[in-house]
Amino acid sequence: MTSTILVTGGTGTLGGHVVPLLRAAGHEVRVLSRRERAPEPGVEYVTGDLMKDEGVEASVAGAATILHLAGGPKGDEVATRNLVRAAARAGVGHLVYISVVGADRVPLAWLRMKLAAERTVADSGIPFTTLRAAQFHDLTLKMVRQMTRLPVLPSPGGLRLQPVDSGEVAARLAELTLGTPCGPVPDMTGPRLYDLQALARPYLHLSGRRTRPSLPVRIPGKAGRAYRAGANLTLEGAEVGKRTWEQFLAERLGREDLPE
Ligand SMILES: NC(=O)c1ccc[n+]([C@@H]2O[C@H](COP(=O)([O-])OP(=O)(O)OC[C@H]3O[C@@H](n4cnc5c(N)ncnc54)[C@H](OP(=O)(O)O)[C@@H]3O)[C@@H](O)[C@H]2O)c1
Repeated sequence: MTSTILVTGGTGTLGGHVVPLLRAAGHEVRVLSRRERAPEPGVEYVTGDLMKDEGVEASVAGAATILHLAGGPKGDEVATRNLVRAAARAGVGHLVYISVVGADRVPLAWLRMKLAAERTVADSGIPFTTLRAAQFHDLTLKMVRQMTRLPVLPSPGGLRLQPVDSGEVAARLAELTLGTPCGPVPDMTGPRLYDLQALARPYLHLSGRRTRPSLPVRIPGKAGRAYRAGANLTLEGAEVGKRTWEQFLAERLGREDLPE
């Protein structure tokens, strides 16, 4: 019999890819969600809220491994502390955490929050694995959709992104979750670097819309300096996904004529 794996954030973008992979590997999966959900074959749902510290003990009971994906714009460090406290008491044997590339290098509040959560995991005494991933194509699409609603395209000089496919990150996380604890592992990024113009261009092309004039802007302060210096990127030693932004867009927007 295989042991139960608790997946927090199992109902999210990443979770939606990784839960079926863990199931396909023959594991019973438990998902913690703030909303009540009916069970599915091999997937049990526990209702709880990591930020409010509700239902957390019940969710970790009997789980040998936890894949901690739950996250949002605020409070990941609180949520992670609550999870780690319950997991340590329950004697969990492996805690896998997903963080963000540049968490220790870009001075933004949400990255500081991810770094604090990483440290909570590393200091927990529970054998752990932490993977930092670049921005997912899914989130990049949301950003590009918003940007292209404007009559001009904001063009922050020096800002580049390495968007990665969430399905590929999920496959890497499934492998790490089923393996032995490794501590921090190499970052995972997408295969290409883009500035915002290069992200917007194929989106506008594939959605049959006209290009926009660009408006040079400057990201202010320390965060701006960090982005211009590429602190949000991992250019060497990363695990690099294969699916490009253009391939993701072509499939998501249902078109095959990829721009160069
Ligand atoms: N998106 C990116 O580009 C990116 C890049 C690198 C790393 N990451 C990290 O990857 C993780 C997953 O991202 P995602 O894009 O898949 O997120 P998502 O689609 O926004 O889903 C968020 C998940 O977190 C759960 N959640 C949120 N607050 C919770 C709480 N208080 N208690 C329990 N569960 C809670 C939600 O569950 P319910 O709604 O069912 O309660 C949902 O399953 C996050 O930790 C994020 O920081 C994301």
